Amino acid sequence: MKKVKFSAVLFIAVFVTILAAGCSDDNGASNNKKSGVNIGIVLPTKDEPRWVQDESRFQDALKDSDYTTEILFSQGSSAKEKENVETLISKGIDVLIIAPHDAAAAGAAVEEAKRDDIKVISYDRLITDTDAVDYYVTFDSIAVGEAQGQYLIDHAGEDSGIPLYLYAGAASDNNAFLFFEGAWKVLQPKIADGTFLVANSSVAEDLKEKTELTRDELGKVLGQITTNWDPNEAKNKAQTNLTAADKDLKGDVAILAPNDGTSRSIADVFAGDPDISDYVITGQDSEKASIQYIIDGKQSMTVFKDVRSLVTDAMGMAVDLLDEKTPETTGTYDNGSLEVPAKQTEVIVVDQDNVKSELIDSGYYEESEFTGLE
Ligand code: BGC
Repeated sequence: MKKVKFSAVLFIAVFVTILAAGCSDDNGASNNKKSGVNIGIVLPTKDEPRWVQDESRFQDALKDSDYTTEILFSQGSSAKEKENVETLISKGIDVLIIAPHDAAAAGAAVEEAKRDDIKVISYDRLITDTDAVDYYVTFDSIAVGEAQGQYLIDHAGEDSGIPLYLYAGAASDNNAFLFFEGAWKVLQPKIADGTFLVANSSVAEDLKEKTELTRDELGKVLGQITTNWDPNEAKNKAQTNLTAADKDLKGDVAILAPNDGTSRSIADVFAGDPDISDYVITGQDSEKASIQYIIDGKQSMTVFKDVRSLVTDAMGMAVDLLDEKTPETTGTYDNGSLEVPAKQTEVIVVDQDNVKSELIDSGYYEESEFTGLE
């Protein structure tokens, strides 16, 4: 009996000590968070070097952070993405930074976060059709497309009737629309005046007199030329296009490829066709493999999106929110439900001429990671 009483007293004492420890800190909230996670980061897939770049740049940025973070990948699945968000919610995050796999499907995941008073930052890709997004950090995606289109105009030669092959990203990604919209803005007048001849999209050909395309029209073009951001799908589509193309759609050609992963596989297909004498092809992301392709003359350009800036902006915004400050923004983006306050970063065109100064001298990559760079 006596023994039992002693155990009970001890139990109560331990319990009271634990409770007191939980309350004793004058900064209770962040003290509690020491065992949890402050900022949750969800990225679309580990299978594309672009997002592995983001992961490692986040890791670099987090080294000196006072806040705890966790990065999870959704592996191209909206279900996995939602599960990731739920895991992070259960770990007590106050801010969620998320690059959605599918812009609209991610709405359900962030709405769940919002119900828990978590601040949501859409990262690189805008989450659409929900009001559960607080902020957006992004590159200037229209400018990415414009730079790609302009590069084709400037490097495809002086002739008219240059065959133009168009490829785009996944229609589930809002950026794919913005990239194509930017490219169309500069390419359309050159298609309308006969400089370029659209080789692989009857829909784009039908719309060639229209300077600005509606979302619906863009969707129809994308439906024909999408790669779904998948290098294999891009390769198959390029093969199908070249098989169907007559000789007059070969020779020296221009190719709008939406990003580096798809650009390399499309370039390989075109390089392997004996009736293609030369090609100029775009890209974006400055993936290491594409930098090597540019040095080797197999890919013409990439749009350098300095992920360090995006990560700095996203982390800066998250820390402001944790510190209960209002983050600085530069404009807004309409996500179909609301105007999302956004911070936007500029992009840089990289080709053989400036690859060294932009990417090596700036410390983004090491010279030793490439061969043939003088
Ligand atoms: C990103 C690109 C990326 C693509 C495929 C886009 O939303 O902005 O950088 O190449 O997705 O992952």
